[in-house]
Amino acid sequence: MSNTAMKVSFTLNGKPVQADIEPHHTVLDVLRNTFALYGARESCGQGLCGCCTVLIDGRSASGCLYLAAALDGSNVETVEHLDADGELHPLQQAFIDCGAFQCGFCTSGFLLMSKQLLAANPDPSDAEIRNYLSGNLCRCAAYPEIIQAVRLAANRMNEAKQEVS
Ligand code: FES
Ligand code: FES
Repeated sequence: MSNTAMKVSFTLNGKPVQADIEPHHTVLDVLRNTFALYGARESCGQGLCGCCTVLIDGRSASGCLYLAAALDGSNVETVEHLDADGELHPLQQAFIDCGAFQCGFCTSGFLLMSKQLLAANPDPSDAEIRNYLSGNLCRCAAYPEIIQAVRLAANRMNEAKQEVS
């Protein structure tokens, strides 16, 4: 360990973890290099594309910019946690059903942003979905299918809630 190394403790995908980090390490560095979680990806490295999106305390953050030192005590969720119950999350299933990806490089970011959207607004219009996801870029231009998938997931989740109540 170097003189500047520090330890951070946080919750990662529901489990308490610790990591030895350097002050310049980003969340993306720690996820990939310490925990072998590769779902969040670096594309622009400048907070402009959304490929590195993770949820920190339930809010989306750019893993390429967010310093790991600030994670202490946080609750971090990555795309790997979406199917934690052994079943695909409705958003994952809807992305598959709608063919809402080609190379898939952007997909983890879109899934987590969409999860955040549906938590805040369970029945968004297409315009609201488009607006909410406007910070996520897809170089394969799968935007129409992505909007369709979020809509489908929202419908399925709302139907499931009605069946329970
Ligand atoms: S890689 Fe982080 S926003 Fe593009
Ligand atoms: S599916 Fe290729 S970048 Fe979005």
